[in-house]
Amino acid sequence: MVVGVLASGAGSNLAALVDAGVPVAVVVVDRSCPAEAVAAERGIPVVVVARSSFGADFDRVAYTKAVVDALADADVDLVVMAGFMTVLGAPLFETYAGRVLNTHPALLPAFRGAHAVRQALAAGVKITGCTVHVATLELDAGPILAQEAVPVEPDDDEATLHERIKVVERRLLPATVHEILERGSVT
Ligand code: GRF
Repeated sequence: MVVGVLASGAGSNLAALVDAGVPVAVVVVDRSCPAEAVAAERGIPVVVVARSSFGADFDRVAYTKAVVDALADADVDLVVMAGFMTVLGAPLFETYAGRVLNTHPALLPAFRGAHAVRQALAAGVKITGCTVHVATLELDAGPILAQEAVPVEPDDDEATLHERIKVVERRLLPATVHEILERGSVT
């Protein structure tokens, strides 16, 4: 299976995937971000599908088609969203039905969305964690493949808690992808 990774940020999960031996053929980013350098340092081509609008006029379907085209151009079979911060539309989930993974920094179904770590702190939970799941059109709602708990410490802020979660994600995501590659199918 050829793997494509979608990223928007630091790219530490991307680095963990590649450094664990996952064959990443292309990285697609939605903005200029450190993940581009992470890919370049590892000799992986990067395609920037820049998001032109963050307002109500954003054409999510057209944007998603451009992302799908970039993945298809690299003959990708399995898509891994590793901190991709644009919600994608139906064309991705039609083209890659059941073959899109996401890592989320909370124990789904708790704390869906872009501010999961902040929400966990606000809720006062003592344990949160991370989830690797099959992504579907409904945000952060697809079948769960792997989860691991992470304690919330009394003096945590969003940055310290997120980093403790990311340490686990960087192990759980590559391990889950390796299992899929060995099996030859997501489930
Ligand atoms: C991860 O915590 C992921 O769950 C969230 O964004 C973070 C990405 O981190 N959606 P990085 O860019 O891989 O370092």
